[in-house]
Amino acid sequence: MRPLIAGNWKMNNLRSEAATLVAGLMEQRAEQDPGCDMLVCPPFVSIRPVGDLIENSPIALGGQDCHSETAGAHTGDVSATMLADAGCEFVIVGHSERRANHHENDELIASKAKAAISNGLTVVVCVGETLEQRNAEKTLSIVENQVTNAVPDNATAKNTVVAYEPVWAIGTGLTPTIEQIAEVHDHICGLLTASFTDGEEFRLLYGGSMNPGNAREILAVENVNGGLVGGASLKVEDFWAICTSV
Ligand code: 13P
Repeated sequence: MRPLIAGNWKMNNLRSEAATLVAGLMEQRAEQDPGCDMLVCPPFVSIRPVGDLIENSPIALGGQDCHSETAGAHTGDVSATMLADAGCEFVIVGHSERRANHHENDELIASKAKAAISNGLTVVVCVGETLEQRNAEKTLSIVENQVTNAVPDNATAKNTVVAYEPVWAIGTGLTPTIEQIAEVHDHICGLLTASFTDGEEFRLLYGGSMNPGNAREILAVENVNGGLVGGASLKVEDFWAICTSV
């Protein structure tokens, strides 16, 4: 399975910064196939400018969230239909920052994922435990609950990617041990295999403080099929180094 390395830019990069970043990535990608699929997810306002820049490159474009409905009175929201219309192939849903800051629950996330899939997008569904939950040894049950409830029934290995992002590892410089990552990824793979005919083929990404120093070891773990990268996706050298670590 070809790994996917996705850059979640979050609320970063003005247009000029975004242009410099993608120009650098495209230059590297033109010289070498890193052996993985590459995805960048800019903030909504930068989707079209970035899309124009990467139009004829193998780098894919994604959104960071979408609404579950196609259109309507939802001030400030963007639909999956609009993302597809703007040239996106992917959309992230259920990121822990949206779960925490926008009170999103698994039911809502599943409806967003469903809308994304219906619009021909590949959805990246994020799951992961808090530190408190890990310390209480609830990691596997929390992740199991999230996967069971947030991955919609129309998911297939082609239209859905699951990203395991321990909340306490995001932006902190902390990462789980290799054994902990393997344990959760094996568990997710087992759950998907039990629920979907092609469950074994879903790409499972790890996210949370992935950087050029730890990417190789994490990406070598069985059932880790790529990464969802935040901070390190904002620098050409770092993101490219992670891509070439697969
Ligand atoms: P960091 O790589 O900055 O820890 O962020 C991970 C993340 O949240 C990607 O979605």
